[in-house]
Amino acid sequence: MAKKPRVLVTRKLPQTVEDKLSENFDTILNPDDSLYSTDELLRLSKNVDAILPCHTEKFPAETIAELPAQVKAIANYSVGVDHVDLEAAKRKNIIVTNTPDVLSDATAEIAMLLILGAARRASEGERLIRNQQWKDWSPAFMVGRQITNKRLGILGMGRVGQVLARRARGFDMTIHYHNRRPLDSNAVEGAKYHADLDEMLSQIDVLSIHCPASPETSGLLNKQRLAALHSQAIVVNTSRGAVVDDDALVDALKTGGIAAAGLDVFNGEPDAIHPDYRRLDNVFLLPHIGSATEETREAMGFRAIDNLIAIFDGKEPGDRVA
Ligand code: DGY
Repeated sequence: MAKKPRVLVTRKLPQTVEDKLSENFDTILNPDDSLYSTDELLRLSKNVDAILPCHTEKFPAETIAELPAQVKAIANYSVGVDHVDLEAAKRKNIIVTNTPDVLSDATAEIAMLLILGAARRASEGERLIRNQQWKDWSPAFMVGRQITNKRLGILGMGRVGQVLARRARGFDMTIHYHNRRPLDSNAVEGAKYHADLDEMLSQIDVLSIHCPASPETSGLLNKQRLAALHSQAIVVNTSRGAVVDDDALVDALKTGGIAAAGLDVFNGEPDAIHPDYRRLDNVFLLPHIGSATEETREAMGFRAIDNLIAIFDGKEPGDRVA
């Protein structure tokens, strides 16, 4: 029997996924789910044919340069690939794949949760009860924003953005979007395209960020763009923290530039996020759990396995990004 390719799996994955991985590959698993340093990652990568990492493992150009020549593929367990220097991987002939599609529903659910949580002051209300500070009810108590019939602006109308648009229509929201190019009208079901992001911002009540982190989108939601939103607007982010200028967002939240934000992703996550996010009542915070459902976490694993199988069968993997 031909020798199975050896695959380094950097984090603990669902059991069904690890079982299938071990059927097909000679796996190095991480049963303790410890977070590897770059040195550990490089040490464990000796004699492996592929690495199956999460976004928690970083592959900048320097790390990729030090990977052994035997490493043929980085098959990510994530749709986002901003943790991998794709150009450096290409230079070294390392194939890079991701796991699109399978996490769109789960992530759109979390975007909807953030919209509702931020609009209806969910974490503030929950804290009142947990801290035994809920003393009264009055017509003026905990009044938030209603999202029904409001205008949702989607920044990056890709797979997740399109699912969110469908869910938001269930709340009678009207959908606006900004992309580099307009999409086929069937895909966007009548959503209004804005070639100019600033113009879209001036016409919406809720902004949901879905564009990937890249040098072009880094700090895209900056002071000037936040100023284009009206003072009752809500911003939510399930993509990557890097798309947001934190100082500008914190300032808008503190000064009434916008009403509230809902954030699942952060610059400096998990432990070095902007400290003011923890202090502000008008932010609804979640710890990067967009794809965290059993169904999705399994599907991400099977998608990464399909990519690896294709690569070692000498075929083009379905989800090649480099
Ligand atoms: C993704 O798939 O990009 C999620 O953010 C988890 O890494």
